[in-house]
Amino acid sequence: MSARMDVLLGAQWGDEGKGKVVDVIAPEYPVIARFQGGPNAGHTLIFEGRKHVLHTIPSGVFRGGTMNLVGNGVVIDPIVLMKEISALEAVGVDVRDRLLLSRRAHLILPTHRTLDAASEAEKGKQRIGSTLKGIGPTYMDKTGRNGLRVGDLERSDMMDRYSALVRKHERLLGLYEPMERPVDAETEWLDAVARLRELRFVDSENYLDDVLRSGKRVLAEGAQGTLLDIDFGTYPFVTSSNTICAGACTGLGVAPNRIEKVVGIFKAYCTRVGSGPFPTELNDELGEAIRAKGREFGSTTGRARRCGWLDLPALRYAVTINGVTELAMMKADVLAGMSSVRVCTGYRHQGRVTERMPYDLTTDIEPVYQEMDGWGECSASDPLPKALEHYIAHIEAAVGVPVTIVSLGPDRAETLLRNAAALH
Ligand code: GDP
Ligand code: IMO
Ligand code: MG
Repeated sequence: MSARMDVLLGAQWGDEGKGKVVDVIAPEYPVIARFQGGPNAGHTLIFEGRKHVLHTIPSGVFRGGTMNLVGNGVVIDPIVLMKEISALEAVGVDVRDRLLLSRRAHLILPTHRTLDAASEAEKGKQRIGSTLKGIGPTYMDKTGRNGLRVGDLERSDMMDRYSALVRKHERLLGLYEPMERPVDAETEWLDAVARLRELRFVDSENYLDDVLRSGKRVLAEGAQGTLLDIDFGTYPFVTSSNTICAGACTGLGVAPNRIEKVVGIFKAYCTRVGSGPFPTELNDELGEAIRAKGREFGSTTGRARRCGWLDLPALRYAVTINGVTELAMMKADVLAGMSSVRVCTGYRHQGRVTERMPYDLTTDIEPVYQEMDGWGECSASDPLPKALEHYIAHIEAAVGVPVTIVSLGPDRAETLLRNAAALH
């Protein structure tokens, strides 16, 4: 019988802990498939005393039995990908035999990165806070129908296509202030492309159809988070792809009716890196304390992440938009030791309180908080503190789906799987 695909995605502003959860549940899935984003992502996995950060490669790669597919919705920087592969091979992980790239995935060129930097520099104070990995310009070329795809590397006129795109980029760059360029960027890129050609390219929509028909389960791994979605995030302070569940369909070529579970990952609080509205942000010592204890510094850029209280209207929005069927709550250990914690239950907006996400989160938004008891130190090997159980039950009741995974530390082992029937 045909199997179904499960989707795992971020329910906040990214960095929720997607990589960790994918690694934990990967043994249940013969195939793990990334569906969007690119090297702007940084997915951290920690086990056996080692830390690994993945940018393009799906987070199933450390589980021997999995095949890892980079889907058509992903944008690939050959330089970053080949560095990632080398880093994994250096620690003895067999990547090449278990990595597949979709022919339809678009390639990030060095000039895409320069365009990203030029566009951000021009925006000045209004800048998005992009990771400057060339994500926006690459997706612009995709929708503008100018892009270069993995499958083009198999064509004899690949270099002509590449040169035409670079020429277009050079013309565009002429509209901006001159940017400093890395020397030898083109040579480095072409070298990386030559090595990338040795990897396995597939028509991933057909591959996944075969996998599902043969009864094997697939886990789709998202990058970024719902509030960074190009359509439903806090536009324009978003990324350039559909990070939501629908993105798994378009980013892999799997039909919506083949999706079974949708796992939404969220932190027991909120973080955001880069610019844009963040209603529950704590611009005080408490925010700093959370950042320090939670080590809230970007996995890709090292930038300090902004920290704040859990935002239930935003989480409910994510549950709705994605059709989340179950939630994974991360990092409750970071809040341990506080006498009380707060959750945002609604926003005061235009003179009334709403539990819905308004169109514009930048003006006239004041979070309404509920104070709850804090909890003491907690670990995955002990029963959860009562106050933490209560916190989880409160969230489940507020958003209407169960929390089936509770993560209490960065290590693979610090994870608690809960009974899905436990909705109160
Ligand atoms: P992703 O982009 O969603 O995969 O998340 P990141 O890897 O960028 O950021 C999550 C960070 O939190 C990483 O440094 C993880 O090692 C860490 N982490 C994940 N789960 C937990 C947890 O339950 N507790 C603590 N303290 N850290 C965690
Ligand atoms: P993972 O997969 C957190 C943010 C950037 C910026 C905005 C646009 O690790 O959760 P871009 O480089 O896409 O043009 O940046 O989105 N951003 C992320 N924030 N986690 C990520 O990925 C992110 N990827 C992009 O900081 O605000
Ligand atoms: Mg991350």
